[in-house]
Amino acid sequence: MKDSTPNFKKFLIDVISNDGAHGRWLNTLSFMEYLGCRKIVKSQHSLGLSYKILEHIHEEAGHALLFKKWAMSLNPKTYSYTTKSTIGLEASEEYFQNLDRYIESFKMSSLLNYCYVTYLVEMRATWAYQIYSQVIAASAHQFSFKGLLKEEDQHLKEMTQWLEANDPNFSKNKIKHLNFENEQYKILIKHYQNEIQAQTPQPLSP
Ligand SMILES: [Fe+2]
Ligand SMILES: [Fe+2]
Repeated sequence: MKDSTPNFKKFLIDVISNDGAHGRWLNTLSFMEYLGCRKIVKSQHSLGLSYKILEHIHEEAGHALLFKKWAMSLNPKTYSYTTKSTIGLEASEEYFQNLDRYIESFKMSSLLNYCYVTYLVEMRATWAYQIYSQVIAASAHQFSFKGLLKEEDQHLKEMTQWLEANDPNFSKNKIKHLNFENEQYKILIKHYQNEIQAQTPQPLSP
């Protein structure tokens, strides 16, 4: 992930320089958090829902709401999730679907599937939000990532501990799965960058 950091930082600096685009970016993060939340709900049987999983659903919905609030404070047109009020809406959904399909192809139990997909997403989210919080801290924006980072960090710890205890091949498997996620991330960030570049007014040629 480290080698992707300068590129992601540059993307963030470009995005936050314009309130309209920044609002759409925040709305995209809200959408991703909502998808993450919905994914957990769909993967669980209602009657067997544990305290921990219910807490996880609650926190992911909270993240979606937090990003939505920030998005709407910069760009009031972000009240819903549309292609115009987000960045790379379809590519974002595809990122999740591809992770799901990939993990499902290993024919593990539904609990292992849930934990692996969540582990991959939490790894990416923790990385991305840490960089985003640094970029925001160096800007005039007042958004605080403290609570969000703490919760994502906790989710990642829980998933890692559970996978370590339940998959005897975790240390080998995680490298393979993280590599796949990294490829999917690169496709996704390219979509985001292309969309932002296409909408940035180009300087007039002399
Ligand atoms: Fe989250
Ligand atoms: Fe999370």
